[in-house]
This record gives sequence, structure tokens and C-alpha cells, in this order.
Amino acid sequence: MDFNESLELKRKDAESILNDYLPDTDGYQERVLDAMNYSATAGGKRLRPLLMKECYKLFGGRDKVIEPFMAAIEMIHNYSLVHDDLPAMDNDETRRGKPTTWKKYDEAIAILAGDGLLNYAFETASKAFDMAKDIEDYRRISEALKIMGTKSGVYGMIGGQTADILAEDDDNVTKDLLLFIHKHKTAALMEASMMIGAVLAGASGKDILDMEKAAGNIGLAFQIQDDILDVTGSEQELGKPVNSDERNGKKTYVTLHGITESEEEVKRLSEEAIDMIRDMADENRADASFLMTLVETLINRRK
Ligand code: IPE
Ligand code: IPE
Ligand code: MG
Ligand code: MG
Ligand code: MG
Repeated sequence: MDFNESLELKRKDAESILNDYLPDTDGYQERVLDAMNYSATAGGKRLRPLLMKECYKLFGGRDKVIEPFMAAIEMIHNYSLVHDDLPAMDNDETRRGKPTTWKKYDEAIAILAGDGLLNYAFETASKAFDMAKDIEDYRRISEALKIMGTKSGVYGMIGGQTADILAEDDDNVTKDLLLFIHKHKTAALMEASMMIGAVLAGASGKDILDMEKAAGNIGLAFQIQDDILDVTGSEQELGKPVNSDERNGKKTYVTLHGITESEEEVKRLSEEAIDMIRDMADENRADASFLMTLVETLINRRK
């Protein structure tokens, strides 16, 4: 099987795990449940659960305990997008080729659907405790939950989104502030994904920290590429509007460094991450070739 066939199978696997954990839609709150599922089933690359599972396998993980966490991280990612698209934030009307959640429903329901997905993510991840076999499993699941909370919270993704919004129309955004924004709004969830995979598989403290670093690079490269595609991509390919950043007065890697330097930085960060993953795989006698190829393909992604 070639890389692309394998990627598609793994994407489908992540998607079906997510579908299994999504809530039923009934009761007086049916509309918000419907909006939650609308945003979560609209498609997407499913990159975060995919990375999580590959890291879990790299450190010898074989159990289903990873699955509630795979679903949970994708719920958090989707909630972040539902809120990111709101009129008060990036004011975007399409995502994954479909109307954004606020456009399809309304703002109040989109706010509540985001809130719903966030809480449901932790409810879902907590189901991993039902699969714990011993005290060590309980310890790992608690650690994974802590990482998920921190990296998605005000010291992680929410912190980055806050700085991103506050920096709109500010002509004095420094490289340091931009790095903070990208590291937090985007890299933090990649770090959570890859660290949780390592933690649940019982990786060493050193490997968990190395994974955080590799994931930080991947996340930063991913957001720089997102900024590049906002300028050079097409709405048809991306499934979301182009030039959203300019419209919102955002400072991005492209506005601060230009396209060429930004592209070089994506490559440099990704190659450094691949080297780190190779070292971890060698030390743990694991095959990480799929994961390394995945990171490599992200360098030139068009969507
Ligand atoms: C979009 O994330 C938001 C960013 C962090 C740039 P993705 O590009 O992973 O979105 P989907 O899930 O594939 O639609
Ligand atoms: C969003 O960054 C990162 C999130 C935490 C959602 P962007 O605002 O650039 O993401 P897109 O381009 O709308 O997907
Ligand atoms: Mg945004
Ligand atoms: Mg946006
Ligand atoms: Mg963007």
C-alpha cells in the first residue's frame, strides 16, 4: 500500500472513532447537538487524532484506550474552529467547503455548539478510565487529561487565540509575539495530540518532552503554511475563504517575513521534527516511517 492509500485508511479510521463517540441528537437541546455534529462531521484532515495514534504506536501502544482521546482532541479542534469562524472573531462563512456553523445555524447556537464540543471532549476522554486495567493505566490517563486541559486552555490554544485577536490591526507586532501566537493557537493542540499518544503508551519523561518539541515544530510549520495558503491558495482547494487574514488585519508569517522565507521556515522546522522523530523511533526500535512521511508531506500541503 502506498503512503496516500495508508493515509486515507488512517483518516477514515480516525473519523469512524470520532463518529462512534459523537452524541445522539435528541431532547430539547437537539439543535445544539445537531450543530455540534454538523461541525464535527463536515470533513477535515483529522490530523490531530492521526498524529496521536502514530505516536501511541511509536512507543508500543496497542490498546483501545487511545480512542476516546483521539475523538476528544478532534472535538476540541472542531470547537476551536466553530468559535474561530464567528463574526466576533474571524467572521468567515465557509469551512471545509460548507457554511460555517454560525452561518448554517446562528451565532448563539454556534457559541453553544463550541462550548458543547469542549465539554463533551472531556466527558469523552474520561471514558478511557473505564478501560484502565491497573493503577498505572489510571495514572497515564490522568496525565493525558491534564495535558489536554493545559494545551487547549488559556496557557495553550485559548491564550494564542486571545493574542491573535488582540494583535489585529496592530502595526507593532513583533516576531516574538507572532511566535507566541502561532505556538499557542495552533502548535499547542499538536503538542497535546502527540504527547498524549506518548503518555498513554508509557513513554519515558525524556521522550515525552522530545515529542512536545517535535510537535511544537510541526504545529508552527503547520500554521505558517496555513498563513501562506491564505495568500496563495484557492477557496476551492482549501474549502475556506482566502485572504481572510488580510481582511481581518492579521499579522502573519507572510506579512512579517514574506512568502519565500516563510516557505523555508516550514521546511526547516519540519525537517528538524522529522530528525527528532527518527531518533526516538531508533531508540525505541520502532518503525516511524509513516509518521515521518506525513510530516514531510505537510511541507507542501495545498489544503
Ligand atoms: C485549521 O486546521 C486551523 C489551523 C490550526 C490552521 P486544519 O487545517 O487541521 O483543519 P481541518 O480539520 O483539516 O479542516
Ligand atoms: C486558527 O488560525 C487557529 C485556531 C485555533 C482555530 P486561523 O484563524 O488562521 O485558522 P483558519 O485559517 O481559520 O482555519
Ligand atoms: Mg483565527
Ligand atoms: Mg480563522
Ligand atoms: Mg488561517
